[in-house]
Amino acid sequence: SLLISERERERVSMALPVVDTEYLKEIEKARRDLRALIAYKNCGPIMLRLAWHDAGTYDKNTKTGGANGSIRNEEECSHGSNNGLKIAIDFCEEVKVKHPKITYADLYQLAGVVAVEVTGGPTIDFVPGRRDSNTCPKEGRLPNAKLGSPHLRDIFYRMGLSDKDIVALSGGHTLGRAHPERSGFDGPWTQEPLKELLKGQTEGLLKLPTDNALLDDPDFRPYVELYAKDEEAFFRDYAASHKKLSELGFTPR
Ligand code: HEM
Repeated sequence: SLLISERERERVSMALPVVDTEYLKEIEKARRDLRALIAYKNCGPIMLRLAWHDAGTYDKNTKTGGANGSIRNEEECSHGSNNGLKIAIDFCEEVKVKHPKITYADLYQLAGVVAVEVTGGPTIDFVPGRRDSNTCPKEGRLPNAKLGSPHLRDIFYRMGLSDKDIVALSGGHTLGRAHPERSGFDGPWTQEPLKELLKGQTEGLLKLPTDNALLDDPDFRPYVELYAKDEEAFFRDYAASHKKLSELGFTPR
C-alpha cells in the first residue's frame, strides 16, 4: 500500500550514523569544543536543559520522541516548555558546523553530558550513534512544574523511567535558574537542591511545586533523604539515570 505508517516513514527518513573510528574522533573533538564553549559562555545549565528536553519527549509505547534532535525544528522549539532553548540550539550549531558528521541527536546529548561534567558533576558514560529526526512530538510531553507527583509519574513512566530516576534527575536543578520570561518562575535553586528541599523554605531560593512533590510523596522521599546525605550515592545514581535519559529512543549497538 502507498500508505505507510508514521513510524515507517520515520524509520526510512532518518539516516543511521556510521560510528566508525572517524566518527569517534569527531566526538572527542566536539567534546573538547563543548567544554571550551560551556566554560566560555557559562552555558552549562541551558545545555543540560536542551539535552533533557530533546530526550524527555520519549513515549515508550509508541516509540516516538526521545533523543533524536527533533527539538531543533521550529515546530518543537516553539513549544512553551522550550522557551529560551533556541540559545542552546544556536550554541550547539557552532560545534555542528565544525563537526558536520555528528548528528544533532548525539551532539545535544553530548552537550548535556559535558555540561554536567564541567560544572563539577559526575562523569556520564556517552555512547554515540543516535539518528536525527524531523518528526516533532505534540506539545505537552514534558512535565508541568505546577503539578504534583501523579503528574511526574505519568510523564516519567511514559518515558520508561522510574521513581528513582525522577528523584535523581531532579538533582539536575543543581545547575541554573528559572527565568520569569521563559517559564514564569524566577530564581536559582541551590548547589544542593535535594538537601535544601529537606530544610524547607529558604529565602531567595526556588522550589517548584514539582520539587516539593518529591518531599511529600512516600516513595520519592527516601531517595531525597539518601541523596541529601550521601553525595556518592547521588552521583552514582544520577549518572545512571542521566545515561538512561540520554538514550531514550536509542539502542546503542
Ligand atoms: C530549568 C521544570 C526536570 C534541568 C527549569 C525551569 C523549570 C523546570 C520551570 C525554569 C526554566 C526557565 O525559566 O528558564 C522542571 C520540571 C521537571 C524538571 C517540572 C520535572 C521533574 C529536569 C531534569 C533536568 C532539568 C530531569 C536535567 C537532568 C534543568 C536545568 C535548568 C532547568 C539545568 C536551568 C536552565 C537555565 O538555567 O537556563 N526546569 N524541570 N530539569 N531544568 Fe528543569
